[in-house]
Amino acid sequence: MLPVNIKKQGVLFMNINKNYQNVSESYLFSTVAKKVNEFAAANPNKKIIRLGIGDVTLPLCKAVVDAIKSAADEMGIKETFRGYGPEQGYDFLKTKLQDYYKSHNIELDLDEIFISDGAKSDLGNILDLFDVNNTVLVPDPVYPVYVDTNVMAGRKVVYVNANADNDFLPLPPSDVKADIIYLCSPNNPTGAVYNKEQLKAWVDYANVNHAVILFDSAYECFITDENLPRSIFEIEGAKTCAIEFCSLSKTAGFTGTRCGYTVVPKTLEFDGVKLNKMWLRRQTTKFNGVPYIIQRGAEAVFTPIGQKEIQENLSYYKENAKIISETLKKHNIWHIGGKHSPYIWLRCPNNMTSWEFFDYLLENVQIVGTPGSGFGNNGEGYFRLTSFGSRENTIEACERLDKFLG
Ligand code: MLT
Repeated sequence: MLPVNIKKQGVLFMNINKNYQNVSESYLFSTVAKKVNEFAAANPNKKIIRLGIGDVTLPLCKAVVDAIKSAADEMGIKETFRGYGPEQGYDFLKTKLQDYYKSHNIELDLDEIFISDGAKSDLGNILDLFDVNNTVLVPDPVYPVYVDTNVMAGRKVVYVNANADNDFLPLPPSDVKADIIYLCSPNNPTGAVYNKEQLKAWVDYANVNHAVILFDSAYECFITDENLPRSIFEIEGAKTCAIEFCSLSKTAGFTGTRCGYTVVPKTLEFDGVKLNKMWLRRQTTKFNGVPYIIQRGAEAVFTPIGQKEIQENLSYYKENAKIISETLKKHNIWHIGGKHSPYIWLRCPNNMTSWEFFDYLLENVQIVGTPGSGFGNNGEGYFRLTSFGSRENTIEACERLDKFLG
């Protein structure tokens, strides 16, 4: 046994990943949750309305629940029980996704679709495929996962400004040569949506610079204008530069159920190596797939009845967004989003900082939102509200806001 003091001096410890010291101590939504829990503990009689993290409140639709139940029954019968499934997902679900893409005029092979437990995991895991010396380009403000996962790996992150001047839809910078580009449309946190021409500019930039676009389409189901792209693969040239990440979290209320999908085209090749092959190798080595029961539930989302039922839920959230937007309009509070997105991105009144407005709302009207500065420097002075609350809570929050702002 070695003397404890030698250990204390750190002499014998293995080296930790010091890059973790370069990310903030806690993840944005954990920080928000901690603050809210402290307030709740100190004010047990006050009803807090949470419109912060984008977590759904409506239950899974009936078609999904029925499919999950019947899959659970199969698992209890010797003849239909299943053990390990294909790491990249069952064909029954991938076929449904292939058809879904086809309905938007996108042709995919089944082995270009990988089922996962959600977009966040895959957006982080995909980085296994890329060199640590690559330069990463992200819009600012941005979903913090894109930045934090790269900082944890020690990659250099550069930013492209998203602000009111460019409607929070930045275009490729002419003076930066990026290797890995993150785009999210409809955007988290701003709710802004790229049109086809704007996405084409990014695709062209990526192809010219031999860069890869990591396209997060987690909110595509909120798009109501058929002219707006739901997928990067609607853009010519995207199959040689882009990977798409999507999830059923917001589409079908799977935040607690966990199922998503990632599309890696076979035409995506760097250094003579196909990323599709690398990703398959990565997933088969480090991932055991999404549970059969859950994949059956996900399959039900893409049946006609499942589509009808999830559309009802999406309409409910869209109506909530409208209610929030109308309240803000009434008080002349600048905001965007909420139309093709569950997020409303507003400018904090009276030049308050994002965290000042967060505290102000929590203390005075017990409404929780997400401070814009948590998404990046350009988010300072802005605030994000989600339409994923219940109708009653959304109306009550708007009544409180109306009274308070008035
Ligand atoms: C958000 O609130 O930004 C999302 O819920 C986060 C996520 O999808 O992981």
